[in-house]
Amino acid sequence: MNNVLLHCEKLSKTFRDVGHEVPVLQGITLKVYDHEMIAITGKSGSGKSTLLQLLGGLDQPTSGEIYFNGKAYHSHSASQLDKLHNQEIGFIYQFHHLLPEFSALDNVCMPLLLRKIPIKEVQEQGRAMLAEVGLSDRSTHRIAELSGGERQRVAIARALVTQPSCVLADEPTGNLDQENAEHIFSLMKRLYQSKRISFVIVTHDLSLAKQCDRSFEVSSGALNELA
Ligand SMILES: Nc1ncnc2c1ncn2[C@@H]1O[C@H](COP(=O)(O)OP(=O)(O)O)[C@@H](O)[C@H]1O
Ligand SMILES: [Mg+2]
Repeated sequence: MNNVLLHCEKLSKTFRDVGHEVPVLQGITLKVYDHEMIAITGKSGSGKSTLLQLLGGLDQPTSGEIYFNGKAYHSHSASQLDKLHNQEIGFIYQFHHLLPEFSALDNVCMPLLLRKIPIKEVQEQGRAMLAEVGLSDRSTHRIAELSGGERQRVAIARALVTQPSCVLADEPTGNLDQENAEHIFSLMKRLYQSKRISFVIVTHDLSLAKQCDRSFEVSSGALNELA
């Protein structure tokens, strides 16, 4: 049996706005093992993004705990959490969050610039990662000049360039047509297989979700495994 990489236990999240409360997640428990690909589906507004943000340590739960490699997030210092984000966890979003005026290569290299490695080495790693997503010939193009599918490939390269052990993707194909969505999904699957990392993918697309090792649905604050 593989090790548990990411684990949340009885996770609840309630947003408190002035005058009212929005309970979103209620007692969610999930174990993500080393080298598995899981999908999280659910209606819009059901709490998928909230769950992913919590799993990534970008937001705090109202109650419950999240562990990465057995260590609880709440026991990490701010700098340990930063390190976790820069070295262990990669994020991919629906609207890629790339810097439009910078080149594809600069965008991919960005997370490595926080590390104290020579710029030449950073660029070598960035170029190698762009090659893996099939974009060697676009490395000097600005993001603004790339198609939606190409931008998503750059976002994948940026998430993976740090060699994380887990990638969290929030509707990474949500902004693409079916053909491009399938291309991007196959690319993620190929990288997941070759790099032996774990993937948690939020997707509306049940045909993509079915291709994962396990799939879940967020509904009424709970997480249910789909058959
Ligand atoms: N920062 C916030 N403050 C208040 N409510 C929020 C906040 N973020 C999300 N919500 C609410 O939580 C619910 C779940 O949102 P979200 O996790 O984004 O859903 P999904 O990703 O499944 O579409 C929604 O009702 C949303 O309005
Ligand atoms: Mg969402």
